[in-house]
Amino acid sequence: MRRLAVIGGTGIDEMDGLVIDSTHRLQTPFGEPSRPIQEGRVGGARVFFLQRHGRPRAIPPHRINYRANVWALKSLGVDDIVAINAVGGIGAAMHPGRLVIPDQVIDYTWGREHTFDEGSSGSLLHIDFTEPYDGALRTALIARAEAARIPHAAAAVHGVTQGPRLESAAEIRRMARDGCDVVGMTGMPEAALARELGLAYASVCMVVNAAAGLGDAPISTAGMHAVLAREAAVVSALLRHLLEANYGA
Ligand code: HPA
Repeated sequence: MRRLAVIGGTGIDEMDGLVIDSTHRLQTPFGEPSRPIQEGRVGGARVFFLQRHGRPRAIPPHRINYRANVWALKSLGVDDIVAINAVGGIGAAMHPGRLVIPDQVIDYTWGREHTFDEGSSGSLLHIDFTEPYDGALRTALIARAEAARIPHAAAAVHGVTQGPRLESAAEIRRMARDGCDVVGMTGMPEAALARELGLAYASVCMVVNAAAGLGDAPISTAGMHAVLAREAAVVSALLRHLLEANYGA
């Protein structure tokens, strides 16, 4: 049986319905993960849970130790990671409240520790990243969303910016021209690091605002959190279905 981990983002501080069996406080060669990793069960299915922003939510996107987080999950025997990301909507169909399972990524981040390749192993870590998300895990998520009649977009380009500020309207227009459908700050380098360690990785994005210059009102944290509060319940339901169907005892 494969082992699943969920990396929670903004709005997913705890995993709904998780009965915790143990809490792993790990050190890695790259430092400490954002928070101790919880191991437990949802129904009969084993799952690991890590909040990438720590708790209380404090670590900004550019300061998250993505390497420690991914390394720690690998060291616990995790095979599959479902990452939850709050995002702004760029594409016409990406309105607040939309659940999105992206199939592509464009990385606009800079200055982050983005690889395990320190240049000392004697071989180069040129991972194939043509398809940045794992096909089988994406298919499983989409199948569960369909079976549970959870509305979702089954493909999208996820643009990842450095943050922590939001984008300018011109930056969003450029991202739209690049082909981005949604914009977030935490999708990279997490996805690439997972691939470097041979982990299957997929993302579930929650659209919580119209991206800069596209909405009627200025983007507010309060507005984002109102949408998040509603969408978090939908994401939890999707995760529960995935766990029951694919990771059950
Ligand atoms: N831009 C970048 N990251 C985000 C946004 C946004 O509009 N909304 C939520 N995370």
